[in-house]
Amino acid sequence: MKATIVTLPGDGIGPEVMVQALRVLEKIGETYGHKFETVEALIGGAAIDATGSALPDETIQACEGADAVLLAAVGGPKWSDPTSPVRPEQGLLKIRQHFGLFANLRPVKVYPALVDHAPLRRDLLDNVDILFVRELTGGAYFGKRKEMGDDDDAYDTLYYTKAEVERVAHVAFRAAQGRRGKMTSVDKANVLASMRLWRSTVLKVYEDYADVELEHLLVDACTMHLLTRPRDFDVILAGNMFGDILSDEASVLAGSLGMLPSASIGADTFGLYEPVHGSAPDIAGQGKANPIGMFLSLAMLLRYSLNLEDEAKAIETAIDAVLADGLRTADIASKGDNVSGTLEFADAVLAKL
Ligand code: IPM
Ligand code: MN
Repeated sequence: MKATIVTLPGDGIGPEVMVQALRVLEKIGETYGHKFETVEALIGGAAIDATGSALPDETIQACEGADAVLLAAVGGPKWSDPTSPVRPEQGLLKIRQHFGLFANLRPVKVYPALVDHAPLRRDLLDNVDILFVRELTGGAYFGKRKEMGDDDDAYDTLYYTKAEVERVAHVAFRAAQGRRGKMTSVDKANVLASMRLWRSTVLKVYEDYADVELEHLLVDACTMHLLTRPRDFDVILAGNMFGDILSDEASVLAGSLGMLPSASIGADTFGLYEPVHGSAPDIAGQGKANPIGMFLSLAMLLRYSLNLEDEAKAIETAIDAVLADGLRTADIASKGDNVSGTLEFADAVLAKL
């Protein structure tokens, strides 16, 4: 097949892990006979430096002409002044909103090879396999807001419509049908009106999914259950802010944030794929970054936007094999492990491919 992919390396470790993902993509193209055209564009701090905007129009145009977008990471201390009117993160929020990418899929699974690296006991972690479905274009991130300016107050509004909850709930229920048939919806319906709308809308959508088992959890309880019974979860549906927080918490189960990929999808096959980790300015430029989250994001891109299941599986299997061989980047190394850099780890994945 032929496909056009926009790549957005961004800031910090972003460019380092993106370069390696492009090698993996090229290898997949060669092996399976696909023609992937890649177009690089600016986002985040790099875009602010070059154009003054975190998401320049040229980047939006490039993405409009593409089948999918692969993003690495944005942000860094250089652009983190809270009073600055432009911030790298705006690039992310704007691209999600512009393309209507309302569902963010974040799979969290525990690799057998890393089970002893995570800070939780092995007996709690074996076989953990969770898919977070985070609502991505609504909630407190996009509600009516007031900046502080020269005043003594500021606010953000947690606002949801039924339609916003319905469409993402359908994504979560359908995902559960394709997995172990369990869906946990997270809210704060005991306190917040928007979350009572959330719960009643999820219940309504549930009428179409009699084969799925539905559980509602309050977000505060969910934070606890994620650590005490992580294996019980299959699909977890949450609003924008709760999903953001819970998915970072769950990354601890996987041993490192560096392991986790994500897919942001909307009504059609176009999607934005990015590792859950940030730009890690503390290790940027040192060749130490874990490329797994980036590679797994590429695998999700192949699967969801290009419908290339075998190719996606090939990347995932290669990573499993490299981990089973004992290769570890610094973030997932335990005492006594040999530590590989980004390049060495990527070379090993390419060799398996
Ligand atoms: C994420 C990030 C972003 C978010 C920030 C950088 C805007 O934390 O993708 O999880 O909060 O959505
Ligand atoms: Mn986050």
